[in-house]
Amino acid sequence: MTTVDLPLLPLGPGRDLSAERGVECPGDLPAASDPDLVARARAAKEALGEKVFVLGHHYQRDEVIQFADVTGDSFKLARDAAGRPEAEYIVFCGVHFMAESADILTGPTQQVVLPDLAAGCSMADMARLGQVEAAWDALTEAGIADSVVPVTYMNSSADIKAFCGRNGGAVCTSSNAEVALEWAFEQKPDAKVLFLPDQHLGRNTAVLKMGLTLEDCVVWDPRRPDGGLTAEELRNARMILWKGHCSVHGRFSPEVVDELRTTIPGVQILVHPECQHEVVLKADLVGSTEFIIKTIEAAPAGSSWAIGTELNLVKRLAEAHPDKHISFLDKTVCYCSTMNRIDLPHLVWALESLVAGTVVNRIEVDPETERWAKVALQRMLDLPGRSHKD
Ligand code: 13P
Ligand code: SF4
Repeated sequence: MTTVDLPLLPLGPGRDLSAERGVECPGDLPAASDPDLVARARAAKEALGEKVFVLGHHYQRDEVIQFADVTGDSFKLARDAAGRPEAEYIVFCGVHFMAESADILTGPTQQVVLPDLAAGCSMADMARLGQVEAAWDALTEAGIADSVVPVTYMNSSADIKAFCGRNGGAVCTSSNAEVALEWAFEQKPDAKVLFLPDQHLGRNTAVLKMGLTLEDCVVWDPRRPDGGLTAEELRNARMILWKGHCSVHGRFSPEVVDELRTTIPGVQILVHPECQHEVVLKADLVGSTEFIIKTIEAAPAGSSWAIGTELNLVKRLAEAHPDKHISFLDKTVCYCSTMNRIDLPHLVWALESLVAGTVVNRIEVDPETERWAKVALQRMLDLPGRSHKD
């Protein structure tokens, strides 16, 4: 029987760095109603000067993104974090797995801070190390582990990245999944890929970019004995997709795509590859958050777009491009609640604590996990001349 290795949801002050799940901030946060929050954040950043480098993922709130020294998708932010060795403090406005990756890629004296430890990712929590090791045992029993290359989406915990590093695999992001899969299939004769933890990114990339068929893909369900698959199904598969998904991107539906096409003449549908395959199939364009931004920037005035990704980013794009008609691809409000945990009070608290000489909410990956996770991340960063196709 496959074990379900999920942590309890910790509530109240404290931290559980082994989980992407929520924990309350231990700090004494400024009130959200404090009218001086913007001035306080500005003053704290100025006081820290070159010592601090603030990274902001595209899904962050406006109130936070205004203080980011750089913004980007998770691939760009990983590279940017690695490219700032002189910054003593990296304040990561994003989610836990991104801060972990920044800690892995930065030097030993640099300290990474996540302003709210409750900023996790439900998708990353869908693949726990114990579950992945149990799956690997089953692949070994089926006699195929030697031909399997594990590839994990950036949206996974550091120990899953380390698992991939130890077992000849790599990390990928939504902007380089295609080149990472090309690399993986070149690693061994008759290679198969175990793709963690986002089944949608894995399937969309394999089928729409690599020319594989849906029949080449099977889904490993960690909650079912032997993943719900027979040894024969495993042996016949080219892609073994982990049964994980993003709860934000999972909301977009093919029905709304159809409806918008009838109500907005000429609308172009632009979606993130974390969306379900049925949605991506009906879209005009698919790509990472960075790709989505570049596409809208390059679009002609007067063009109409419906965008399927997190709402903070879509709203910002609509505001920045009043000459283009931009709609959200869902009828309800759809923020990433954990990305939204990083708000101005948490940012002010983190920055002012640094000014006072206290490093709060430090994200620190243990050395053994870091060593192997770095191998997997470095394989992604080294993909020769083709690491960022979008
Ligand atoms: P990218 O920024 O890599 O496109 O990923 C989107 C996402 O869901 C981050 O959590
Ligand atoms: Fe995780 Fe989805 Fe939020 Fe990204 S948008 S952090 S994948 S829950």
